Amino acid sequence: HDERTFVMAKPDAVQRGLIGEIVSRLEGKGLKLVAGKFMRIDEALAHEHYGEHEGKPFFDGLVEFITSGPVFAMVWEGDDATRQVRRLMGATDARDAQPGTIRGDLGNDLGHNLIHGSDHEDEGANEREIDLFFDDEELLDWDR
Ligand code: CMP
Repeated sequence: HDERTFVMAKPDAVQRGLIGEIVSRLEGKGLKLVAGKFMRIDEALAHEHYGEHEGKPFFDGLVEFITSGPVFAMVWEGDDATRQVRRLMGATDARDAQPGTIRGDLGNDLGHNLIHGSDHEDEGANEREIDLFFDDEELLDWDR
């Protein structure tokens, strides 16, 4: 199958009723949803997921934010999916993100940036994050 990438609508997206909008933009671009889970991230999972940021000044705030309410975790599949999602998301700091991107159109700032996507420059990021959030049997193979 094509490349699979981990994506998550963060608590601010859930709070603001933007899950559908985010899913819609990825679907509209032709990416294929292969897994989705509405869930709460606990402290331990937050530390694992954001382990690379441990020790940075914004780490505690990041953990507090990501555990503050439910998230919608997803796996999307497509040709060059990681980079495609990254382009659709826009720059990490929503204040700098281009109009037309999810963060550029809807995001508020650096912390409240609505959506997480695996880093395409981090070789193992997709596999690691998919494994962290999903069991193998939760990833669905389907044709369209
Ligand atoms: P994300 O792609 O989820 O990965 C790490 C997150 O940390 C990032 O999005 C931002 O929301 C957040 N982040 C990165 N840098 C900072 C910073 N300097 N201050 C606050 N939050 C940050």
